Amino acid sequence: MNIELKTDLGKLIKGNSIELLSKELRESLKGKVNLIITSPPFPLNNKKQYGNEKGDEYLKWFIDMAPVFSDLLADDGSLVIEIGNSWEPDRPIQSILHLECLFGLVKHPTGNLRLIQEFICYNPSKLPSPAQWVTVNRWRTVDSYTHVWWLAKSDFPKADNLKVLRPYSKSMQKLLAKQKYNAGKRPSEHNISKTGFLKDNGGSISHNFFEMEQLDPDREVRLPHSVLSFSNTTSNDYFLKTCRKEGINPHPARMSGGLVNFFIEFLTDQGDLILDPFGGSNTTGYCAEILKRNWLSFEIKEEYIKQAVIRHSNPELIP
Ligand SMILES: C[S@@+](CC[C@H](N)C(=O)[O-])C[C@H]1O[C@@H](n2cnc3c(N)ncnc32)[C@H](O)[C@@H]1O
Repeated sequence: MNIELKTDLGKLIKGNSIELLSKELRESLKGKVNLIITSPPFPLNNKKQYGNEKGDEYLKWFIDMAPVFSDLLADDGSLVIEIGNSWEPDRPIQSILHLECLFGLVKHPTGNLRLIQEFICYNPSKLPSPAQWVTVNRWRTVDSYTHVWWLAKSDFPKADNLKVLRPYSKSMQKLLAKQKYNAGKRPSEHNISKTGFLKDNGGSISHNFFEMEQLDPDREVRLPHSVLSFSNTTSNDYFLKTCRKEGINPHPARMSGGLVNFFIEFLTDQGDLILDPFGGSNTTGYCAEILKRNWLSFEIKEEYIKQAVIRHSNPELIP
């Protein structure tokens, strides 16, 4: 096995993860992975990029991962997948391939996976796509979000939303200070008790809608402390700056470090093992390293492994 990067907490292996994880590594990692978090190669319809398959081949390739991932996961482990929308080639209609992928995963006869919750990552600064239908014909609106599916092999994967609380809003802070509000029935039929909102839980519960860029600059954005911002992180600054200096095109489909941090904090504890089978520039391994989790990543392309090495040369990582 080609280990291309090794730290105290993790390793990045060069090669085809699905092949490697289906064979020799499957036994040694069985039941030991607490979180698999990844953005697989997207189902691109036109070009073969990242060596990904098209259409039905992609679907089969994707669904076949279900029993492999399920085997690797601890009983209370989670699988988190970020995936975008795709469009039918040369037609102004959306493909349902990603939905078929999800159905395929949860319906796999030996996969034993279920959808725990779906998250939406809204990214208002995404380039208008699909360009032909959006900017030329003007028949469609901008495709501006990706899906994040949280799956597991039990209905009760390890999770604690108290670890990803957001700061309270100003009005909630006032209410907590005053210890008084209008109780009673709301038009929505909810009955608000006299004390239900007076306990300080340390923050408000996160939502399953992530703003990758702030939607409204006049509105205060409240994110868990581990997230800070979905779009910009200091690690990204270092990574992008170094790539620019070395004349390297940064990986075009990097995951947001904030998103990875969110799920690491929400679903794992320090010392747990996190796997990313499609590591790219190793955002996952980097976040795991910072948050003191063990990690294992795979990447098939040499050029992205070089970028992972750059990411890990960030002085932020040096104790
Ligand atoms: C969407 S990108 C992931 C980007 C990554 N999350 C990041 O933040 O940089 C998917 C990556 O999977 C890699 N890949 C595709 N098939 C693979 C395979 N079978 N084994 C390992 N890596 C693979 C591609 O080269 C690509 O870098």
